[in-house]
Amino acid sequence: MYSPATSEIWSELQRLAKQTESDQIIDYFSRQPDRFNKMSLKVSGLFLDYSKNKITAQVLDELQALAAQSPLADKIQQMLAGQKINTSENRPVLHTALRNRSNTPVLVDGVDVMPGINAALKHIQSFSNAIRSGHWLGYSGKPIRNVINIGIGGSDLGPNMVCRALLEYQHPKLKFYFVSNVDSSHVQKTLKNLNPEETLFIISSKTFSTQETQLNAQTSKKWFLESCQSMEQDISQHFVAVSTNIEAARNFGIAEENIFEFWDWVGGRYSLWSSIGLPIALSVGFEGFLELLEGAHEIDQHFATAPFAENLPVILALIGIWHINFQGADTQAVIPYDQALHQLPAFLQQLDMESNGKSVDVAGRSVDYATGPVVWGQTGSNGQHAFFQLLHQGTRFVPIDFIACLNRDTQTPEHNVALLTNMLAQAEAFMVGSDKNQQDYSYCPGNKPSNTLLIDDLTPKNIGALIALYEHKVFVQGVIWNINSFDQWGVQLGKKLALEMSLGNKTDHDPSTAALLAMVRAKI
Ligand code: F6P
Repeated sequence: MYSPATSEIWSELQRLAKQTESDQIIDYFSRQPDRFNKMSLKVSGLFLDYSKNKITAQVLDELQALAAQSPLADKIQQMLAGQKINTSENRPVLHTALRNRSNTPVLVDGVDVMPGINAALKHIQSFSNAIRSGHWLGYSGKPIRNVINIGIGGSDLGPNMVCRALLEYQHPKLKFYFVSNVDSSHVQKTLKNLNPEETLFIISSKTFSTQETQLNAQTSKKWFLESCQSMEQDISQHFVAVSTNIEAARNFGIAEENIFEFWDWVGGRYSLWSSIGLPIALSVGFEGFLELLEGAHEIDQHFATAPFAENLPVILALIGIWHINFQGADTQAVIPYDQALHQLPAFLQQLDMESNGKSVDVAGRSVDYATGPVVWGQTGSNGQHAFFQLLHQGTRFVPIDFIACLNRDTQTPEHNVALLTNMLAQAEAFMVGSDKNQQDYSYCPGNKPSNTLLIDDLTPKNIGALIALYEHKVFVQGVIWNINSFDQWGVQLGKKLALEMSLGNKTDHDPSTAALLAMVRAKI
């Protein structure tokens, strides 16, 4: 049975980590004059510079050997071919089929899923065209002006982040809102000043059973029916649903023709390419949504065919494994120097931590090595005024992914210079540190690694490529760690306890919970 940590290669990487412990990253550049060219790679609209890592050519070779000895090559083909690699749920993992613009057949249990995917795309196309053109009218004859997506986790984070990233492309007459938290202030604040006659609700929920989404959907339906004295049949012009659970959506009162289906072989955190991406198509248009899919498809094709040494997701994954398993990193910072990407860290948190936050391998054995990191971050340059102090002079080892767009708004060159030079200066400062002879309170040791990912420009295609890059990075790490990146049993326990507690079905609590529950119950 494959396990990464029992191999000779793993031991060699541990030896190399010890051997290079006192190396200074900056010295690698004088020892290897073409280091930047050797350790940077351009794929599609993405350019990765990974030369500011504490990685020698020998370490890189061993990391590549680690990938080669793992089942990665087979697993990539198995995933793309629709094999049931999500073994604990006995499901395929086919977010790649959703963006398979080559339209080559993808079989699940002998049936090609592409016709269903193309039908769902047609449904998205006709609906988004009707809303965007103003042909779709609310019950009082007014076109839709407000779109509210009600969903949480993968039914919120993906479409929310992409709509924000592509705000430049948003339809000028449409406004978008995303309601996710069960805290009623979230939905009430959103609904407060909206005209129900011009409002469309998208209830996005793969299971159509998530407590938060169900509550927010019921509250919204109540608000709609009460605030415009309309009848139940008006729901059909103002409520649509995106789900795999057609029956539950129908029982909520959604008209059959307004249910956008997707399938159980699409993981929630990988679902923005499916009808869960409906808000994206409404915002940027169906053509823009197709460009997003195209960008991801290009990365899929690269991922499936490029040799691992020139494979962007594989390289990004291996650098992470070096930091996590051989340099002791517990967290991974993602710092986009672009305000349009300010929701990217939150999206990547679910993508990475819900996928690889696992401690048993695919055979159910406890692992004796580190797996998924704590992913966190916020935009630069803001982070410089919040947590960079710890990163420069703290006691913790935190690898960083810097992300920025090269082509920016030409109206504000001075802002662009300030933004991008801040990012480059910080990456340099993290690596080089301050004057070694000035070892006082101001001293910055440096020797802190980072990747710099430059995106040509913030287009739907490049956003699709960026997301697919990180999806496959997470997948590669999961395969090498021999864990299942596509289930999420850990979230079920809390959901179950919360439901039992809210229904009063569970009374045997620990003393702390019992006392706190009594305080809460006295108030609510
Ligand atoms: O966090 C658990 C989870 O199941 C996620 O995987 C999912 O994206 C989210 O809850 C919402 O689930 P649903 O789309 O079924 O409402």
